[in-house]
Order: sequence, then C-alpha cells, then structure tokens
Amino acid sequence: MEVIIAEGERLAELAADAVEDLLRRKPDAAIGLATGSSPLAVYDELARRHQESGLSFERARGFLLDEYVGLPADHPERYRNVIAAEVGDRVGWPETQISGPDGLADDIAEACAAYERSIAEAGGIDLQLLGIGTDGHIGFNEPGSSLASRTRLKSLTLQTRQDNARFFGDDVDAVPVHCLTQGLGTISAAGHLVLLATGRHKAEAVHQLVEGPVSALWPATIMQFHPHATVLVDEAAASRLQLAGYYRHAYAAKPDWQGL
Ligand code: GLP
Repeated sequence: MEVIIAEGERLAELAADAVEDLLRRKPDAAIGLATGSSPLAVYDELARRHQESGLSFERARGFLLDEYVGLPADHPERYRNVIAAEVGDRVGWPETQISGPDGLADDIAEACAAYERSIAEAGGIDLQLLGIGTDGHIGFNEPGSSLASRTRLKSLTLQTRQDNARFFGDDVDAVPVHCLTQGLGTISAAGHLVLLATGRHKAEAVHQLVEGPVSALWPATIMQFHPHATVLVDEAAASRLQLAGYYRHAYAAKPDWQGL
C-alpha cells in the first residue's frame, strides 16, 4: 500500500493522473466511481483536463460504487444522478456507459447479481476511486461487513446517515436506511484502488485502514490485502499515522518510472 501525504489540490491531481494514464493506455477502461465530497476535486480536475487537453471518456465504462435504495429516479441525491452531474456530464461520458446497482428494482437480490455480472462482462474494474467514512466504511460497507462480500443490500449506520444528512437538508430522517453497495470482495477485485481522505475527522479511519489489524470492524482495512492500493491523504487526515515519516520518505525517494 502506498500512502501519499500532500495538500488537497495535489491529491486531486495525482488521482486524476492515475485516471488519465489509464485512459491513455486503455481508452475503454472500466472506472469505479465514488460519491461523497472526497472525490469532488478529482472530478473537477478530470473535467478541466477534458476541456483543456481533450481527455476522452468516450469509450470508458463507469461503475458506481454504491446507491441508495428507494430514492425516486429524479432525486438529486440518487448516486446515479450525482455522478452524472459531478463527472459524467462534465467529461462527455456517454450515459449508457455508466452503470450502477439499481436501487429502484423490485427484485433487489437479482439487481445486485446483475450488477456483478455487468462488471464481470466489462472485464472487471481497472481503477476504483474511493472515499472513506468516519467509521471506516468504503462504498457503503459498514462495520461488520463480510470481507469477501459482493454487491448486496446493506442497512446504513446512524453515524453514516448523520454524516450524509448534509446532502438531505440536514434532515437525518430523509437519508435512506438502505443502500446497495459493491462488496468488499467486489472492490478488492479492481486492478488499482485509489482512496482519498481529507480532514481531521478522517484521521482515525485512515490510521486503522493503513496500520490497524485487518478487521470487519474497520472495513477499509481489507485494502491491506490489495497488491495495488494508493492512499492519498492531507496532513489532517494523516495526523494519526504512526509511520507518517516513513511514508513521506518513501514517496520523496520514489523513482519517477514507478508512477502511481
Ligand atoms: C458515503 C459514500 C462513500 C464515501 C463516504 C465518505 O457514505 N457512500 O463512498 O466514501 O460517504 O464521504 P465523504 O467523502 O463526503 O466524507
């Protein structure tokens, strides 16, 4: 696992570099898309590169990390709509090439299985962007999630619903109780995991993710098993890292040819 400590704007550039390098190498790559505030600066940077240097998503496939259950199709917080507004529409990504688990399906179990099939049919996800919840969740895999889980229905914790209430007019009751999320096993199957975290409120989750024992109590710790995981954090989110000095040294000494 590589940990890079830098200021927010630089983190977004690094994540955008990883996406751009991938698309230049493989224009029809499959990219896993996260919601929340953490990847927003990355999406801004990708939109800028699309405008200014023609970075193309025309052949790329997009796969949402998660989705709320039961939000009406036109609800602005439905993750499919959030991703369209924040990245898809801004980079000219054909709508039909971005998919997500169907939170409005009558048969939820079948919708989850169908989503796993669509990822497999695309040849798997090449690069998965991730944020992290204050309780250590990735996607919506709350503490206690199976470390081998696949896309399925989950109940959100009260903590997550409170954290996300800001997107629902600060009304925690308006935040759905249920969601569909790629499982920890699904996420682990992606070729490259790129997680972004900023702010002191993420410091404990980041410490556990990088340095804690692997445990369903901190679901993001599954990333310790991944052969290609990049953790991009600002100073505040890095403030509890025990080996911060070593991560800084290793990054400063990194050979240029290695890339992310
Ligand atoms: C939600 C999303 C996660 C995201 C988390 C953190 O729960 N489902 O994918 O990582 O929020 O959000 P933020 O980046 O806004 O702190």
